[in-house]
Amino acid sequence: MKRIVVLGSTGSIGRNVLDIVRRHPDQFRVVGLAAHRNVDLLRAQCADHPEARFVVTDPVAAAELAKEPRFAGGSEAALIDLVRTSDAHLVVNALVGFVGLAPTLAALEAGIPVATANKESIVAGGELLLRAARKAGVALVPIDSEHVAIAQCLAGAARADVERVILTASGGALRDRDPDATADVAVGDVLAHPTWRMGAKITVDSATLVNKGLEIIEAHWLFDLPYDMIDVVIHPQSIVHSIVRFVDGSMIAQMATPDMRIPILYALAYPHRLKSDLGADVLEFPALSFAPVDQRRYPCFALALAAARAGGTAPAVLSAANEVAVQAFLEGRLPYAAIPELIGSALDALTARPVTSLDDVVAADHDARRWIREHRTPATRGDGR
Ligand SMILES: NC(=O)c1ccc[n+]([C@@H]2O[C@H](COP(=O)([O-])OP(=O)(O)OC[C@H]3O[C@@H](n4cnc5c(N)ncnc54)[C@H](OP(=O)(O)O)[C@@H]3O)[C@@H](O)[C@H]2O)c1
Repeated sequence: MKRIVVLGSTGSIGRNVLDIVRRHPDQFRVVGLAAHRNVDLLRAQCADHPEARFVVTDPVAAAELAKEPRFAGGSEAALIDLVRTSDAHLVVNALVGFVGLAPTLAALEAGIPVATANKESIVAGGELLLRAARKAGVALVPIDSEHVAIAQCLAGAARADVERVILTASGGALRDRDPDATADVAVGDVLAHPTWRMGAKITVDSATLVNKGLEIIEAHWLFDLPYDMIDVVIHPQSIVHSIVRFVDGSMIAQMATPDMRIPILYALAYPHRLKSDLGADVLEFPALSFAPVDQRRYPCFALALAAARAGGTAPAVLSAANEVAVQAFLEGRLPYAAIPELIGSALDALTARPVTSLDDVVAADHDARRWIREHRTPATRGDGR
């Protein structure tokens, strides 16, 4: 029986994680839950998992829950305490954003394996996380479907035999629109993802394709791959999640219906596999197609590649600037076309520095957020002021 802590339990990934737990009650026991402010859902989840202590990070939610017997804190520091004090066999990180970095690092440093969907933490602090995992001899297992696919395609492969890794991208909600007509596209249109049902931020990230740039950086750290060995193709059906091409011309692709519970099950059960009724018969798959990425359509993708190659703190700046820009877009304060403008200006302004500690990454994240606050132009404010 694996004792697990689920950070971000109220989100899209978190709810799917708890669905997997519900389907395998003999395998997993939830001993910790954490969210930002969705008090009602967190209460319901606590009722389902009577051993779980819980944390929220929003002060209003924390005040509301403070008197409840299993409340374990109302701050970002409490996330770290929950990870350290739950006697967990696995921490599942389903948080969105930079807030996921410190608890992931804390878990790995404490010798607790982590299954993570929280790509922003790997993008910003991948070097630190992989170093901590290696030092403690524990696994950092991806949940992102592309990386779960790569892990499976690489299983048993000799490193020298791998020619390249190809991530697939759906192309997001705007993939069939004229790129010149997306400048002020509505939030609802961007959130209408063609194949996946996900949280708001990653759905916007899919439309801008910054998500695929973040995933390239994730793959670089998780699989120790140089950037010139990682490619991306557009695959609108989201059935093939990644492909590994070998030096002899053979390719291994991993396929499954676009249901995040499949990679989540892989990550939770790792290094074993659990039987499930998820997935579809191959005859149910649609016709599969692949196309190159049109970089003109996706300026954020090019920015992410540039940040990846710059290295050091540049990916942390990229990710922080993107978080701020996407939040502003979702709140109607920023036009869609200004997202790449904001990210690009932060990357231009903040020189990449080497990453030697968590403090370096935290400083880069803070600098990027502060720079954007101080330098947003009338156009990027979206309010004409
Ligand atoms: N959704 C997918 O299918 C998918 C696929 C691959 C990778 N991912 C990655 O998985 C991560 C989670 O994505 P998601 O789509 O599940 O996001 P989501 O639906 O927005 O859920 C985010 C979760 O994080 C919590 N949270 C947000 N800010 C927080 C903070 N400051 N402190 C503590 N908790 C906080 C939220 O709590 P509240 O509900 O209380 O706000 C919620 O539980 C992201 O990194 C995303 O890129 C997602």
